Amino acid sequence: MHLNNRKILRRTIREIEMSTKPPNPRSSEVEVDSMFTDRWSPRAFLSDPLPEHQIQALFEAARWAPSCFNEQPWFFIYATEAKDREIFTSILVKKNQLWAGRAPLLMFSIARRKFLQSGKENRHAPFDTGAAWLSLALQARKLGLYAHAMAGFNVEKAYAVLGVPKKDYQIMAAIAVGRKGDGEHLPEDLLQMESPNSRKPLSEVASQNYPLATDDQFAE
Ligand SMILES: Cc1cc2nc3c(=O)[nH]c(=O)nc-3n(C[C@H](O)[C@H](O)[C@H](O)COP(=O)(O)O)c2cc1C
Repeated sequence: MHLNNRKILRRTIREIEMSTKPPNPRSSEVEVDSMFTDRWSPRAFLSDPLPEHQIQALFEAARWAPSCFNEQPWFFIYATEAKDREIFTSILVKKNQLWAGRAPLLMFSIARRKFLQSGKENRHAPFDTGAAWLSLALQARKLGLYAHAMAGFNVEKAYAVLGVPKKDYQIMAAIAVGRKGDGEHLPEDLLQMESPNSRKPLSEVASQNYPLATDDQFAE
């Protein structure tokens, strides 16, 4: 197919998807850009491969995340080929395998433990790698894709299978990315969960009061 026709077809599919998309039930307490409430973590992925330029755009977005001393301690090992995705999927817990195995892009986000310059421990690396993950997830939505992070994987197997030196890197999360499908392949319990969830009230997120209550006091 001619490149232009392919572009038009892709745009038309996107427009149909947007027009048939159920309304997002999320509402923010205070008006914010809709990109924050439009990002959520579905499990119904289409297995259609993603174009390379979209994959690179995800990592480009992650690249611009802020980090302590601009260390950029994040790294993403990713898989798009069937045989690699199978290997990545085998690292996940069974419950995640059920849905993430279909996603056309699987990755593990990794944080370098030490600052490259000084060799000192970088205790901010997980924070910064989290910032990079969110940049990637927001960019995914801009491309009509969804990203879903997972802590449910066999950590030791991940280090072994991916050949990640544990003394130098911490494997933070697995991430599945793809276009959203209708979930026809999902087991019933996961299908039930297939809509955007809510959040704690804003009053529980930020306050000018301190010191903070202990967990025990908080529970009272
Ligand atoms: C670090 C991290 C680990 C997560 N682990 C899993 C997981 O193993 N399996 C899963 O289905 N969802 C997982 N999630 C998705 C969360 O359940 C989800 O982000 C949370 O409920 C908020 O919903 P939302 O992302 O749709 O806004 C994880 C999310 C994060 C950020």
